Amino acid sequence: MSERRGFASDNHAGVHPEVIAAIADANDGHAAAYGGDPWTAGAQQRFREHFGPAARAFPVFNGTGANVLCLEALTQPWQAVVCARTAHLHVDECGAPERAGRKLLVVDTPDGRLTPELVAPLLVRIGDEHAVQPRLLSIAQSTELGTVHRPEAVAALAEWAHAHGLLLHVDGARLCNAAAALGVPLRALTTDAGVDAVSFGGTKNGLMGAEAVVLLRDDLGDGFKYRRKRAMQLASKMRYISAQLEALLRGDLWERSAAHANAMARRLGAAVGALEGVRVTQPVEANAVFAVLPPAATERLQRSWPFYVWDEGSGEVRWMASWDTTEDEVDAFAADVRAALG
Ligand SMILES: Cc1ncc(COP(=O)(O)O)c(C=O)c1O
Repeated sequence: MSERRGFASDNHAGVHPEVIAAIADANDGHAAAYGGDPWTAGAQQRFREHFGPAARAFPVFNGTGANVLCLEALTQPWQAVVCARTAHLHVDECGAPERAGRKLLVVDTPDGRLTPELVAPLLVRIGDEHAVQPRLLSIAQSTELGTVHRPEAVAALAEWAHAHGLLLHVDGARLCNAAAALGVPLRALTTDAGVDAVSFGGTKNGLMGAEAVVLLRDDLGDGFKYRRKRAMQLASKMRYISAQLEALLRGDLWERSAAHANAMARRLGAAVGALEGVRVTQPVEANAVFAVLPPAATERLQRSWPFYVWDEGSGEVRWMASWDTTEDEVDAFAADVRAALG
């Protein structure tokens, strides 16, 4: 894959200049380690502003760590986590949830979204000591297929989960994209919808490697600070992670960056969706475009544009837009898609 800018991943984009400035500002003298610094206190305050006064935020290094910590904190070893078959947890974490001793029960979904109807058939053998006991639903916002769960859908899922003795976790690696796409505050998709815990993503939205576990209920996550350390996710110089999260949540940076990435994906989806020979396979609701095109066209395009083939079998590709994707890039890429189709 070339070094060219492209549509491979929102992780390929650099760090937002306002975040670099926040890191530079935090680089001022000495500060207490392991979260005892003012930047971490500031970030925690921002999380409370966005997620409500009960929110407890724990900065971590990466999304896999945040997810695994949430799973461990919200379940016992004999309990299972239900997620979509396409979930990052299931397909892109190299068995880290299983390494933590948690079994995943996966559900086929047409579009990456979980619903009570899709999950219900898995709620069997409750009380049977020979079977893992479903305890946690995990949804992604936005999903790995670029779709979003609307606030009312999250609320319905949370209500159903709680009525069945389950908890609801949001893998929010792209929560900002989902909220920006829907034009709602972060709490509308989480706290207000009855979500119990969130893996909050910053890295894909212009941070350098900063995520956070956000626990939304007082009665969950007993001993979480010990758990984070045991999971090797406790940063000694936490101020640099916290300063990034604080910068993201302080003003409108979270929304500005995510809304821009979403708009670029919509622009791309509209441009390529109009081409004969391209089939856009999922609604473009956040910052991803999924499409099927002839393999020969994909191969030609990949000579000059980095992007991933999502499904070798069907030829489906994934094009991700980032906070720094430009309209000119989208237009140039769409023109090259047209040319590659011959
Ligand atoms: C939905 C989702 N969750 C979590 C992650 C976090 O992964 P990482 O451990 O690479 O930060 C990603 C990254 O690709 C993701 O797409």
